Amino acid sequence: MTGEKKIEPFRGSFFGKDVISVEQFTDKKEIEDLFKIATKMKRSVEERKKRDDLKGFCIAELFYQPSTRTYTSFYAAAQRLGVSYFIPLHGMAAYSSTVKGESLPDTIRTIEQTTAADLIILRHPDDSSSEQAALYTQVPIINAGSGTKEHPTQAILDLYTIKEELGKMDGLEVVMLGDLKNGRTIKSLAKLMAVMAPKTKITFVSPTGLEAPLDFIKGLKNKGLVIKETDNLDKVLPSADVLYVTRIQKEWFTDPEEYRRVQGSYIITPELMRKAKRKMIVMHPLPRVEEIDPNFDSDPRVAYFKQMRNGLYTRMALLTAVLRKTV
Ligand code: CP
Repeated sequence: MTGEKKIEPFRGSFFGKDVISVEQFTDKKEIEDLFKIATKMKRSVEERKKRDDLKGFCIAELFYQPSTRTYTSFYAAAQRLGVSYFIPLHGMAAYSSTVKGESLPDTIRTIEQTTAADLIILRHPDDSSSEQAALYTQVPIINAGSGTKEHPTQAILDLYTIKEELGKMDGLEVVMLGDLKNGRTIKSLAKLMAVMAPKTKITFVSPTGLEAPLDFIKGLKNKGLVIKETDNLDKVLPSADVLYVTRIQKEWFTDPEEYRRVQGSYIITPELMRKAKRKMIVMHPLPRVEEIDPNFDSDPRVAYFKQMRNGLYTRMALLTAVLRKTV
């Protein structure tokens, strides 16, 4: 049965559902429930407790784009939940039958048949890839990053990090910096905040030409978020509770000259961060190239390494919540 499945709002339960977009979240309780499970998972990992939540299950992971964090943390999350079969497929764009011209729908059908997977995790360069994939399988698809618009599991771990580090997730001043045109993490996080933290004030800071898309900003404003835009980081840094830095995403540029024009537009250094509050955090989805000076890494405000570990806990929570009715 294909072409009939719709992306469903979570409406209080993740069980059996695709996780395609943060727009599926409808209520604050959904994220709070997920965070409670994540904190339980954190304790299990810290105590080296063996779990068997996913005993008997099979998970396939298909990545058509490079990844270090998302790929390994999903893999590790499944292993730590005692999954019985994990099919890790990195390098799909280079080594699968995609090279021979196979379509994404046929690949998804194939993986479901050949592995009997209970869940498929997908990273792909097309914006609508996860939504498309979900039409061609009966098992849940988790979007592990699609195109330039969505990275829902990154947004979940980002919001979890904000709550863990600052003790709350609403009413904060958040500065999102860098390539806001191509970056999918800031889009998913801002949209998730619109539902879960509607009193957030977001300031977008980007070099000319890499501004967040107008329709995306309009959508956030319509949901009630206070949004500002500037290219002047110095002006907005002093009041920020969260500085969310992103990489200029070279892979989406067609003109190398255009990339060189914006390369290194903003670099976070210990000196620059003297202008920021003492109690605030600096986040980054990573990988970084040059936008955060490694000399800043030992600053207590650094949250970008903790984000990666929180990715393990929140992905353990999500896999369990999608595959098991009771957690
Ligand atoms: N943050 C993130 O998505 O990193 P990877 O590309 O390494 O998975």
